Amino acid sequence: MSDKEYDFVSKIYDPLLFVFLNPIRKKIIQELKSFQDKKILDLCCGTGDQLKRMAKKGFENLHGLDISEAMLRVARKKTDPKIHFYQEDAGNTRFEAESFDSVIISFAIHEKKREV
Ligand SMILES: C[S@@+](CC[C@H](N)C(=O)[O-])C[C@H]1O[C@@H](n2cnc3c(N)ncnc32)[C@H](O)[C@@H]1O
Repeated sequence: MSDKEYDFVSKIYDPLLFVFLNPIRKKIIQELKSFQDKKILDLCCGTGDQLKRMAKKGFENLHGLDISEAMLRVARKKTDPKIHFYQEDAGNTRFEAESFDSVIISFAIHEKKREV
């Protein structure tokens, strides 16, 4: 999807996909349990739903990066101060290698060309 399409999709993304994404969100939290106090980056975080759920479960050092202003606008609503959001291209971020203990990415790679 293009950045323009996300302008519209951002408004309905979470309620529309809740039923499908809910079990996956929970599974990711389970998998990352041992990283609760570690620095985690969600690349292409979209509305930040995964990170907000992690904050509620006690994760402390959370970062989300997305290119879409509209998706990040939703992400920054009702957010937790433990989460830091950045509007950047995941293919060219400000972060140096090994800045995070764990990096997650969900439902974004399939939209990209192989080279990206
Ligand atoms: C289908 S959404 C998935 C959002 C989130 N990961 C989730 O699990 O709900 C894909 C996201 O990837 C973002 N995205 C696409 N290309 C990107 C890029 N080059 N850099 C950063 N974010 C990008 C889009 O803006 C969109 O928010």
